Amino acid sequence: MDSGIQQLKKWVEESNNIVFFGGAGVSTESGIPDFRSVDGLYSQKWRYPPETILSRSFFDRDPEEYYRFHREKLVIENVKPNSAHIRLAQLEREGKLNAVVTQNIDGLHQAAGSKNVLELHGSILRAYCSKCRKIYPAELINHGNGVPRCGCGGVIRPDIVLYEEPLDESVLTAAIDCIRKADVLIVGGTSLNVYPAAGLINYYKGNKLALVNLSETPFDSYADLVIHEKIGQVFSQL
Ligand code: OAD
Repeated sequence: MDSGIQQLKKWVEESNNIVFFGGAGVSTESGIPDFRSVDGLYSQKWRYPPETILSRSFFDRDPEEYYRFHREKLVIENVKPNSAHIRLAQLEREGKLNAVVTQNIDGLHQAAGSKNVLELHGSILRAYCSKCRKIYPAELINHGNGVPRCGCGGVIRPDIVLYEEPLDESVLTAAIDCIRKADVLIVGGTSLNVYPAAGLINYYKGNKLALVNLSETPFDSYADLVIHEKIGQVFSQL
């Protein structure tokens, strides 16, 4: 076993206060492309840059085009949790892991059995009316054509955080709280490019910060342990 993975395994064995903070790279081994890798969503050609389409002003201006992108690129069917999601759920059941803080909107941590999942960017599996806030089943917006509308006339939207929108304060506060108190913080599958999410690492006060990411991140020099390998492969050895 790689010495970095060995070190991480030891930290995991010794701790009962682990927090995991992850991003799109956690789900690539389940078949969901990430955003910033060469084959990621942001490298594909669309009429507008995906970051523009995924913004609040674009959603309000052109919900039709937003929904075309949403259904074609964000809704990915028949995906299953991979070894990273599964092992994280096991660690929670074993009383070793306190929380999963994720930037992902795919619901795969919950599908693997994780209970305390703090979804910083919301979930594609929930929907509500942007005008009266009535809750709708996600199937209503994730399938079909055109712009889904509420009885009140408002556009039904996914419960995700679009660019230009603030994060949910209660989720953010809970994430800060558990990261601040964590003994071991494992950060994985995230380029750590998007704020305020990336800044959460700064709340960690311990000396066991492990970064598991295929490519380098701006926080590599800040971490106590860096593993540049596939996260599913790493977690299947922990
Ligand atoms: P990114 O696409 O920016 O970064 C994913 C990272 O995961 C990259 O650094 C990859 O090298 C790495 N990676 C990919 N597959 C991996 C694997 N199997 N094992 C380990 N690492 C792997 O995705 P995020 O950091 O999650 O926000 O992006 C953050 C936010 O940007 C997203 O939540 C989304 C996006 O715009 C919103 O939509 C608001």
